Amino acid sequence: MELNLLTLCYLLGSLSFIIGLKMLSHPDTARKGNWVAAAGMAIAIFGTIFLYNEDGVKLGNYPWIFAGLAVGTIIGTLAAQKVKMTAMPEMVSLFNGMGGACAALISIVEFRHLIHTAQLGLDSSEIKLSIDTVTLLIIFAGLIIGTISFSGSMIAWGKLNGKVKDLAFNGQQMANNVLLIGILAFAAYLTYNISNTNFFWFYLIAFAAVLYGVLFVLPIGGADMPVVISLLNSFTGVAAACGGFLYDNQVMLTGGILVGAAGTLLTILMCKAMNRSLTNVLLGSFGGSVKGEQQAVTGTYKEISLSDAAICMSYASKVMIVPGYGLAVAQAQHICHELEQLLEEKGVEVKYAIHPVAGRMPGHMNVLLAEADVNYDALLEMEDANNEFKSTDVVLILGANDVVNPAAKTDPASPIYGMPILEVEQAKTVIVNKRSMKPGYAGIENALFFQPKTSMLFGDAKAALQKLVAEIKSV
Ligand code: TAP
Repeated sequence: MELNLLTLCYLLGSLSFIIGLKMLSHPDTARKGNWVAAAGMAIAIFGTIFLYNEDGVKLGNYPWIFAGLAVGTIIGTLAAQKVKMTAMPEMVSLFNGMGGACAALISIVEFRHLIHTAQLGLDSSEIKLSIDTVTLLIIFAGLIIGTISFSGSMIAWGKLNGKVKDLAFNGQQMANNVLLIGILAFAAYLTYNISNTNFFWFYLIAFAAVLYGVLFVLPIGGADMPVVISLLNSFTGVAAACGGFLYDNQVMLTGGILVGAAGTLLTILMCKAMNRSLTNVLLGSFGGSVKGEQQAVTGTYKEISLSDAAICMSYASKVMIVPGYGLAVAQAQHICHELEQLLEEKGVEVKYAIHPVAGRMPGHMNVLLAEADVNYDALLEMEDANNEFKSTDVVLILGANDVVNPAAKTDPASPIYGMPILEVEQAKTVIVNKRSMKPGYAGIENALFFQPKTSMLFGDAKAALQKLVAEIKSV
């Protein structure tokens, strides 16, 4: 009876993960989706704690389990409350690393358990024959993938908070590949030649996988970390699924597979949106495959005053706002929403053009604007926005740069060549707000800023928008 109840808990947990994930795909339902999945996880955890029962033996170790739960809950809650939106990838990376470490620890515990159980009453040559090969393969897979995810995520976390610098040396890629092949070959050898003297070698594999995770992430450019974190996230999912196989635990299996699949899809989508291959990201060479001289960006730019910008926008029929990384840095989303409402009160149609890799993490702009209660219907995806620029009077670019850089279409030598962009130059007027003429993430000049229809409105996005709102109120 208890086992059936536990199976039901696992079924509920699995279902809630699937429903929660589905709900996460739309901002209107995302918050609830998070709660649904969290509730499912709670059911699975407490079901295991209270209902697990094998041949009359309960789980036990309750003080340890509840102490761990309490510490984890306190740390998780405080971290989630304190984290700034711009530091979110950092936190995701840290938490993902913990997931990888947990999956690796499961493999270590199960390996020890397996050997100890097998050696009861057997000599070491018999042990070799008594251990199931598939189980061993899963243990090694969980160990290797989990430890790589752990150490890689820790390096990614260090890079994002500026504590770890990029490090690449000649032949690093080759060294990494040799190390990985060595780890896999040795794990395969041990699987077929297992004995109770293999602990040292088992731990050596774990150590080598930690090293591989470090060397794998070290050379990758700091700003490419969101892609890498998403990839490592999928590794953690696969490692957790290995744990699900080992324990014959459906909810762990479902959760792991969902995380693995979602992480892989997200990685592919991010690479596609940047028009880069995963190899190009992993080799740490933004534009590394590009040959030839980049087109020089020449000309002069012109500035627009706040009052002119205010008049221009107040008398427009349609304004399109293009948010970018700078809007997130300035935390200007609330004042941006105020500007939108103000213009709408004046009868101006206002929409937002969202580029899939604007900002520094997937869905960055959507989350940022949702935080300021911007209506989701006002957010246009790139393709729809590009269809609407022709009928737009004013495009207001707020802290975006690469995602509106025409070099992506016109300069085959540009590192961003081929990346789909927001074609803002089709609108009648373009106003760009940023603090200086400095480049964005890709480190390249932007010819848009020098075009006749473009005017620069310099300043921090929040301060500039506050002044602009005040000006528009007085128009
Ligand atoms: P960027 O090209 O990085 O440009 C951001 C601009 O914001 C900068 O030129 C900067 O100019 C300006 N800025 C910074 N702080 C500001 C502030 N307080 N107020 C006003 N402006 C400010 O941003 P983007 O257009 O959003 O493009 C994103 C880039 O990141 C793309 O190249 C993309 O491939 C890459 N990337 C994205 C992701 C994801 S998943 N989103 C992941 C990895 C990489 P000033 O310094 O002159 O102010």
